[in-house]
Amino acid sequence: MPNRVYIFDTTLRDGEQSPGCSMTVPEKLRLARKLVELGVDILEAGFPIASEGDHEAVDAVSREFSWVQVAALARSNRADIERAASALQHARRPRIHTFIATSDIHLKYKLKKSRQQVLDEAVTAVELARSYADDVEFSAEDATRTDPDYLEQISRAVVEAGARTVNLPDTVGFSVPQEYGELIGRMVRALGDSAIVSVHCHDDLGLAVANSIAAVQAGARQIECTVNGIGERAGNAALEEIVVAFKTRNDRLPFETKIVTEHIYSASQMLAETITFGPQPNKAIVGENAFAHEAGIHQDGYLKERTTYEIIDPHSVGVPQSKLVLGKHSGRHALNKRAEDLGFKLSKDELDTLYHRFTALADRKKGVRNEEIVALIHEVIGEKATAATE
Ligand code: KIV
Ligand code: ZN
Repeated sequence: MPNRVYIFDTTLRDGEQSPGCSMTVPEKLRLARKLVELGVDILEAGFPIASEGDHEAVDAVSREFSWVQVAALARSNRADIERAASALQHARRPRIHTFIATSDIHLKYKLKKSRQQVLDEAVTAVELARSYADDVEFSAEDATRTDPDYLEQISRAVVEAGARTVNLPDTVGFSVPQEYGELIGRMVRALGDSAIVSVHCHDDLGLAVANSIAAVQAGARQIECTVNGIGERAGNAALEEIVVAFKTRNDRLPFETKIVTEHIYSASQMLAETITFGPQPNKAIVGENAFAHEAGIHQDGYLKERTTYEIIDPHSVGVPQSKLVLGKHSGRHALNKRAEDLGFKLSKDELDTLYHRFTALADRKKGVRNEEIVALIHEVIGEKATAATE
């Protein structure tokens, strides 16, 4: 299927290695179960040379979910690759993911190696990894700041050495969509059917999702991403945003994934409970306000027909329901609906009085809670009843 895009989830690796996100082995196993349910194609479970815990996590995840492709990260050297292979020794579908930086800035300051040395090490690493696993992925770290001719040379060489997937990360989130699309298009043409071109985008400029989508439009067929977009610094491309964009705008983005979108919200919630923070309230798809409406005009439109202000059905991503937030911008319709939901049937006169008191209260606050609305309703109903008996 030419438009099938593979989702390589790195929540448990790139995500986990960012501040406030470290996870224990049982936590990784619990999340891995959710990611499998979500339908990710490849699950990167850790960087085994980094710690005993990462080695154990990769081992445990690959044993427990033996039908899933499980990846382990390794730098392009013998010790890392052997450690990754050891963590994957019981895996039925192991992938060794080896990487080395290819940009001149990384070569000069970090690796202190020549381009030829890096190319030789990449090829040797892929050959060694292939002696342990059929499925080897090579990543050219900082690909977007690498000389494109050299990037093409190294990409061809690692494929020749046995890599099946070539990942071209925007490691520092520097690229912009058109530019990234052009780079990826060039590498897709250069590699043809010999390997899958993969993308891995960081969000330093807030462009990780846009860049990933531009890359897929240019022929990439694997996206590396994380739930809630967690990852180094500003994070990685958010899995939920990419997948739901493909689904919602399939007219323009005719790509398919195997993600069961109904599990998105619970995966996001489980991750938030596991690490030290959740998505920001206005985060697309999974944020607290992603399906909340406060403005009166919006609430009125929404109550008449949901699609006037919602392009995604909340149930399709596992969000239980949309929310009408009652605040100073809310209208009479929404207030009446809330009163009904709270079990009150108000007359027009009662609603008018309630609305006046409600707006006066809402003016002084950031939002009005149900208990406060109920108290106001009792006040209004009580006064009207007394007035009627006098
Ligand atoms: O951002 C990056 O370049 C990475 C690689 C290790 C794939 O995380
Ligand atoms: Zn990364």
